[in-house]
Amino acid sequence: MSKYKIAWLPGDGIGNEVMEAARLVLDSLGLDAEYIHGDIGWEFWKTEGDPLPKRTTDMMEKTDCALFGAITSKPQKEAKLELAPELQGKNLTYFSPIVRLRQEFDLYCNERPNLAFKGSNLNLKDDIDITVFRENTEGSYAGVEFGPTSRTLREHMLAEAPKMQRFMDMPDDDIAISTRIITRKGAERIIRSAFEHAKKFGKKSVTLVEKPNVLRKTGGLMVDVFDKVASEYPEIQSWFDNVDAIAMWLVKSPEKYDVLVAENLFGDIISDLAGQLVGGLGFAHSGNTGNDYAVFEPVHGSAPKYAGMYKVNPFAMLLATRMMLNFLGEKEMAAKLYKGIEKTITDAKVLTYDMGGAAKTLDVAHEVIKNFE
Ligand code: IPM
Ligand code: MN
Repeated sequence: MSKYKIAWLPGDGIGNEVMEAARLVLDSLGLDAEYIHGDIGWEFWKTEGDPLPKRTTDMMEKTDCALFGAITSKPQKEAKLELAPELQGKNLTYFSPIVRLRQEFDLYCNERPNLAFKGSNLNLKDDIDITVFRENTEGSYAGVEFGPTSRTLREHMLAEAPKMQRFMDMPDDDIAISTRIITRKGAERIIRSAFEHAKKFGKKSVTLVEKPNVLRKTGGLMVDVFDKVASEYPEIQSWFDNVDAIAMWLVKSPEKYDVLVAENLFGDIISDLAGQLVGGLGFAHSGNTGNDYAVFEPVHGSAPKYAGMYKVNPFAMLLATRMMLNFLGEKEMAAKLYKGIEKTITDAKVLTYDMGGAAKTLDVAHEVIKNFE
C-alpha cells in the first residue's frame, strides 16, 4: 500500500497538461502515492448537470489531499445553453466547483504565496515575498444572494436598516442583493492562520486588508477580531490598510509587506494583484486548507485557446505541487522541487513563451527535474 492517497483532479483544458507536468515531477521525486482520478469540470456539467459529481467528493473523502488543475466557468445563461438536451429546462444552476469544494470540505484557508524568483524577467521588482491569506468559505462568496428580490424580504431588511428605504419602490426584478457574511469564527480562524504563518516563518508583519470606514458592520467585525488576535503576537507588527489604498501601495512599495489577510472577495482581488507583481498567471498558485483536508491548485483557468498545445507555463502547477509536498510533511522533496524551479528560472534556457522562451510545458518539467541535483 502507498503512503499517501491523492485525489487527482485535472479538470478542463490546460489543467490536463500542467497536471501531466506535476506527475512527471512527483514520479521523479519518488513520492510514494496512489493517484486517484476524479471527474470534475465542464464536461460533467454538460452531460450530467453537475461539474462536481458526488462520486468525486465521495472519493476525495478517502484521500489525504487533492491536486487540482483548472476548470472552465461560464456565466449562467451560457452554461444553461450548453447542457445536454435532456437536461435543458430542469432549472439546473451552475456553481463553480472549486468554490463548492472549499465550502463542502470547509477549506477555510486560501494561502497564496507570491515570491519573486531571482532572475525572473517577469518580476515587477525583486525582493517581493508576500503571502496572502484569504478567507475561503464566507464573505461575498457564501452564495447568499437574492434576485429578483421580494418585497417581503425588503420589508424585513427595512425594519432593521433604515437606509433600505431608497430601495423599496421598485419592481422585484429590478433589484438584486448579494450579501457579505462575516462571522467571528470565520474571521478568527483565517486571521490566526496568518499570524501562525508569520510566527513559523519569522515574518515581520501581518496586514489586514479591509474597508471598515464604509463596510462598518462586517469590516468592523474583521478589525475587532484582528486586533484581538494580533495582541497575542506582540513580536509581529500588525496594522490594517484599506483595500483600495493597498492596491496602490502594493504596486508602489511591495517590499514593505509580508503577510496579508483578508475576507474572501478582497482576498481574491488582492491576491491576483500580488500575483502579477511576481510573474502573473504562470506563477500564481494556492493551497486551500481546512482542519482535515486540503486542495492545491494553480490559480489560472483552463485557457481553452491553448488547450492541447502544451504551451503554457507549468510553474504555477509545480509550485502548487510543492505546497502539497510541504502539507504532506515531505519537506525534502518540496525543497528539491523549489531548487529545481529556481535553477530553471536563473538558467533561463528552457522557459515557456510567457517568459520569452519557446519551450513546451513538459520540456520545462523535465528541465526542473534535471535541476533537482
Ligand atoms: C481563485 C479563482 C476562483 C475564485 C474562481 C475560479 C471562482 O479566481 O481561486 O482565486 O474567485 O475564488
Ligand atoms: Mn481569483
